[in-house]
Amino acid sequence: MKENLIGMFDSGLGGLSVLKALMAMVPDVPAVFVADQRYCPYGTLSDALILNRSLAICDWLTAQGATQIVVACNTATSVAIESLRAHCSVPVTGIEPAIKPAAARTVSGKIAVLATAATLRTERYHSLTDRYGRSVTLHAVTPEGWVEVVENNLTEDNTRRRCVARVLQPLLEEGVDQLVLGCTHYPFLRPFIEELVPAGVEIHDPAPAVISRAASLMNQPAALTVPEGGKYRFCTTGSASEMQKALRRLLGLNGVVQNLSDLTTQSNSLPGRL
Ligand code: DGL
Repeated sequence: MKENLIGMFDSGLGGLSVLKALMAMVPDVPAVFVADQRYCPYGTLSDALILNRSLAICDWLTAQGATQIVVACNTATSVAIESLRAHCSVPVTGIEPAIKPAAARTVSGKIAVLATAATLRTERYHSLTDRYGRSVTLHAVTPEGWVEVVENNLTEDNTRRRCVARVLQPLLEEGVDQLVLGCTHYPFLRPFIEELVPAGVEIHDPAPAVISRAASLMNQPAALTVPEGGKYRFCTTGSASEMQKALRRLLGLNGVVQNLSDLTTQSNSLPGRL
């Protein structure tokens, strides 16, 4: 039986929060992770470009021998998951805002969904809110600067704290008691989020549920041999040396990062940023 190899991607570093769940929950399974940093943030791209980037990355991951793909990006999932499933020869698992569990747990009846503008405008997101959000008041917000703070690590802790507070304070004042982290970058700001939220406010990060789903699709038995070059392969379409630093900062890992800047698509001629 073919050994497992998870192909995972995001617009950037956020997807590492999903990889972290994979490492914790199925530590024997190797993965190839692609950060499409040249095109990050996806949240401000056109749907056509997000779709084309996602297709090109999935093709590349499949060519590397991925036995399944995990889309570690809410934006790419919301825009492209159906097309990716139709296109790919391996199973594709996506990630989307955890509105269902948040709606089941709210006491105040008020939920905040934090996600990119591109996610919030998709039909898929609207169908999610139609199915699970009808009985609650949803506050859907795109937190300004959060993706950039995680990507660039430019600001010191107090600036990060202020950036998080600017978004959360009004929501907490509204009486929101469930925070849905609908973008994989946001879990890296969790320490600052937790500093602010009072007891009784719950934070939802669907990464463990996504990995459970992916684990249920794995070939059995899970791979026990470490592939040449280590269990995890990291690639970026941006700066390999910057991503290497980010791996240390975000995962405490010393990993080699492969430069994938030649992973281009016809999408380069498509409408780009909105
Ligand atoms: N991490 C991505 C998500 O989960 C998107 C961030 C971005 O590139 O805008 O939606």
